[in-house]
Amino acid sequence: MTAIWVERARAVADAMARVRDAESWHPPEPELLDTVGKILLRLAARTDLFPAGHFPPGTALDGGMYRLSEDPDLRFALYVSSEMPGFKSKVHDHTTWAVIAGIQGCEHNDIYARTDDGSKAGWGTLQPDGGMDVTAGKVCRLGHRAFHAIAITGTGQAIHLHLYGRSLEHLPERVYCESPSGGALRPITSDLAITAPMIPADEFAIFKRSGVSFEVLKVAADGSTAKPRSGADTVILDGAEGPCRIAALRLMHAGVRNLSILAS
Ligand SMILES: [Fe+2]
Repeated sequence: MTAIWVERARAVADAMARVRDAESWHPPEPELLDTVGKILLRLAARTDLFPAGHFPPGTALDGGMYRLSEDPDLRFALYVSSEMPGFKSKVHDHTTWAVIAGIQGCEHNDIYARTDDGSKAGWGTLQPDGGMDVTAGKVCRLGHRAFHAIAITGTGQAIHLHLYGRSLEHLPERVYCESPSGGALRPITSDLAITAPMIPADEFAIFKRSGVSFEVLKVAADGSTAKPRSGADTVILDGAEGPCRIAALRLMHAGVRNLSILAS
């Protein structure tokens, strides 16, 4: 248990290196997503690396999205999505490809294809294009033009890997639609509350005795921190969650691979 954070960071880094390599050959999107799906399924199968306590579920207003990796150029953004049954999204697009792999629980996906030519601003038509229950061992692939809606079903906390071609926080053309058949397409303007995985206090006490090299950084109200020492790749952020979100993104883009927030 003591090295979950370290093992997870290594496994994530390995998976993302494989994704970058697959994309570097510029395959057609369906081929790329097939390869990425296999990579993500392999990572999701390491259920020991994704304990529920590190990824508290979100609420209807504040989704449980935890950033595991994102390249400095904003590509290849990997998140853990953690939600309870009852959570639903509206029909929406991403404007980049997406791959979802199940770790535990059930995320039902309804998929839609856009059928209009895009010539009418703020308006589009959709038609059903399949759907599936994404559970452990299952993967859902969405091309950059696809729309989908998700609903957490089943009885327990759902934990899934969501990998996007580009950071969800930097996709300004995304839209949602009230109806699965289309209609008015509205910009997605919500401020995503993407954060870093948590370290429960009791596990942190064990972690401190593990011999693993790590650093604890106090986070100020504006999200600033001291500079981590050179080479530190396991950083625990200690502060209020909002500022910790800001600090986590800054540090990840500065090259720190393994970030967690100390649960208060
Ligand atoms: Fe989505």
